[in-house]
Amino acid sequence: MVSTGIERAKEAAAERAAAEVVRGERVALGTGSTAGLAVEAIARRFPDGGELVCVASSLATETLARKRGLVVRPLEAGDRFDRMIDGADEVSDRLDLTKGRGGALFREKVLARLATRLVIVVDESKLVPRLGTRSSIPVEIVPFARPVVIRELERRGLKAVLRTVAGGDEPFHTDNRLELVDVRPPEPVETPGTLDAEIRGIPGVVETGLFVGLASRVYVGHADGSIELRDPN
Ligand code: A5P
Repeated sequence: MVSTGIERAKEAAAERAAAEVVRGERVALGTGSTAGLAVEAIARRFPDGGELVCVASSLATETLARKRGLVVRPLEAGDRFDRMIDGADEVSDRLDLTKGRGGALFREKVLARLATRLVIVVDESKLVPRLGTRSSIPVEIVPFARPVVIRELERRGLKAVLRTVAGGDEPFHTDNRLELVDVRPPEPVETPGTLDAEIRGIPGVVETGLFVGLASRVYVGHADGSIELRDPN
């Protein structure tokens, strides 16, 4: 199969991040097409499973990782991870992220906070000066509170759209059996940490897809297969 520039870019970033995984590590696995390529690259690197202990951020990733021969177990009390490898919908100049287009933002954020390093793998189209430029901000909510949450978001000048299944009317449900609202700020976000705290303060909001100050490094893949490292230093 001939891969397009974007696929080549994603593959290059995923391969690079997977090359850093060390035998015996505890690895948190992200969700999405680029994180999936990283799972496959890790599995190719360690055909015997590499004594890795993996926890997945979604049922989809868990299924993929198991199929490729990695050992995946549920999250346990006291878990810490040597690294998490995950994708993103947007990466800002400050390496803050928008995540959750794949619907796994809650578990992704839980695991990211337990990881010593959060390694992000993206193609170059995900780079933005400020978050909210190319992507809406997914917010996971409790279905019961949906009308209140949407009204509170709109009162703050944010456009809020309930995510539905394949463009129909049925609400999309996350692996946590919760719903997602995709939020559009009126302009790109200047202070994502403030917006994150404000949205999380609305009763019925469980988590947002704003990942502020969490990324340790970002591998950006380019269409020609080259990779660029961005880190906070
Ligand atoms: C999953 O919930 C997301 O956070 C993904 O990591 C993000 O949407 C990037 O996915 P792609 O690599 O498929 O673009």
